[in-house]
Amino acid sequence: MEKGLFLTIEGGEGAGKTTLIAELARSLHEQGKNVWTTREPGGIPIAEQIRGVILDKGNTAMDARTEALLYAAARRQHLVEKVMPALSRGDIVICDRFIDSSLAYQGYARGLGIEEVRSINQFAIDDMMPDLTFWLDISPEAGLARINSAEEREINRLDLEGLAFHRAVQEGYRKLLADEPNRIIRINAEQPPKTVLNDVLSILKQRF
Ligand code: TMP
Repeated sequence: MEKGLFLTIEGGEGAGKTTLIAELARSLHEQGKNVWTTREPGGIPIAEQIRGVILDKGNTAMDARTEALLYAAARRQHLVEKVMPALSRGDIVICDRFIDSSLAYQGYARGLGIEEVRSINQFAIDDMMPDLTFWLDISPEAGLARINSAEEREINRLDLEGLAFHRAVQEGYRKLLADEPNRIIRINAEQPPKTVLNDVLSILKQRF
């Protein structure tokens, strides 16, 4: 079976994932590739419904383990319904967040433990790991300043967390990078969007 390419884009709030994904997809399209862009949690109706529950600002009673399980449930459905069929056709899938978000946010920043969260996610993904992951690294101060200046952006439950939480998310990603330096590539997301795109394109060219 021909296998496509599974790319994931990670990072804290305001890192510029959405902009990068749109530009990267356009550029790969121009090179004649079949590219799908999608996001987590969400990307398909069932997972978008789960997203609504997780990110609802009214759900202040949500337990951290419940939250981690809901992300994993949304991930499973999205993988089976959307990502795996595209990869089996040989297409490229660019996903806005994947397992590393759960490891950094729930495992590290929420304190559930990276290995504990990895194990519930292993049940959900069944070894279906990304071929390559770009971590858009930006200081939490700069990232939060960007989202606060973007008026049209909706504020969700996780945006309401304080700076200490977002610092812990960044630290979580640092640990993941140290563990898997071959799969995870750190990109300096404080650079202009065009430079970020060019960095990603040149790494893809080297690797594939
Ligand atoms: P977004 O703002 O990038 O769309 O992501 C929604 C929020 O969900 C964001 O604050 C990060 C968070 N998140 C987790 O905490 N764990 C996860 O596994 C995923 C996919 C997202």
